[in-house]
Amino acid sequence: PVAVGLLVAALLAGPGSALLSTFTAPLHGVDAAPLRLASAALGPVSRFELTASRLASGAWGFNAQTPGPVLRASKGDTVEVLLRNTDIEEGVTLHFHGYPVPNGDDGTAGVTQEAVMPGQQFVYRFAADKAGTFWYHTHQVSHAGVKKGLFGALIIQERPEPGEEVLIFAHRLVTGAASRQVAAGTPVTLRLINADDVTHRFLLTGVSWRLSAVDGTDLIDPGPVAGKALRLAAGGRYDVTFTMPEGAVQLGVDGQPRLGLSAPASAVEMGVPDLDLFGYGKPGTAAPVAFDRSHTVVLDRQLRLMGGLPGYAYTVNGRTWPQAPELIVRKGELVKLTVVNRDREAHPMHPHGHQVLVLSRNGIAPTGSPLWMDSYEVLPGETWEVALRADNPGVWMAHCHNLKHAAQGMMLHIRYE
Ligand code: C2O
Ligand code: CU
Repeated sequence: PVAVGLLVAALLAGPGSALLSTFTAPLHGVDAAPLRLASAALGPVSRFELTASRLASGAWGFNAQTPGPVLRASKGDTVEVLLRNTDIEEGVTLHFHGYPVPNGDDGTAGVTQEAVMPGQQFVYRFAADKAGTFWYHTHQVSHAGVKKGLFGALIIQERPEPGEEVLIFAHRLVTGAASRQVAAGTPVTLRLINADDVTHRFLLTGVSWRLSAVDGTDLIDPGPVAGKALRLAAGGRYDVTFTMPEGAVQLGVDGQPRLGLSAPASAVEMGVPDLDLFGYGKPGTAAPVAFDRSHTVVLDRQLRLMGGLPGYAYTVNGRTWPQAPELIVRKGELVKLTVVNRDREAHPMHPHGHQVLVLSRNGIAPTGSPLWMDSYEVLPGETWEVALRADNPGVWMAHCHNLKHAAQGMMLHIRYE
């Protein structure tokens, strides 16, 4: 096993092409996994097992439920997840969306591992060195697998948090309203996760609240908000916090009551302006201005013949996966990405393994708290400039998290040279 561990370490350090062709499941399987962490800081290990299977309802689940179980650990832990596939013939992987895992644990079938087929298993390990709200999902035929239910929440806690926590997913398989009794004065944290292909709108009424975190990163000194809806891009997360008032609090998703606290869900008002993240929170530090490298990514579509029928391909710089140009970076660089949407649909962009600092949207810089995101929605006609710190070597996917668009071409690699 030692030799295998060293070999894996050598592959990780080697050129990307060697990594791609040699980095297969047997090498990176159960036996090799513990050794890879030899040099990393080892905290207490939080172990989980997720078994993917077909459910009687037609959905696909982890441990016979959808969403799958919450993976909850404390900051400083080592998270270890044993994935098994019972009978998903299409194969399964685990991608920890937004989490800065080592490249070999990123779960991208065909890039960092082979898909886990029925009867097979795979162990993922990573250091939980960042607290926040994240999620996991399959990354093998992910447009079908996530839609069918292969996803769940990944919550890393800074410390045991007092009060009530409520997890809310936006996803077609998660519907209906719930209600819960919460004593007045209790701190409440709502963790909102968009596990769907499109933007969803959340509206919290009956209380003024704060948007405490975006995509797992805290905002600096966010102020109170009332009467505004929150647009959440596909793949994105918001932490919303408030103190339970005397009266009832309701959360609506796209105008449908979803959660009532201390009272049954009732009418949810809509039509209020969305929260403008760009001017929200205490002004932060100035954005970096000197970049080691810049890349431009143009999102568009092309009418093509696909299987003999005309259809739209979603393109990156005029090409579709896997022909799309790679974003080459070098470890340590500060990279500027300019993302232009020339298409008439929104594209929620998601780089794996990294968060980006938003520099501007249509030339306007955020004036509030620094905004670190891993799922940012580039609307038709928009241009976003974001900064990426190249601090996590490997070959990473970046793609539109409207997973249909990704499957129809809108994906590319970030590759360390
Ligand atoms: Cu949420 Cu490439 O994934
Ligand atoms: Cu898209």
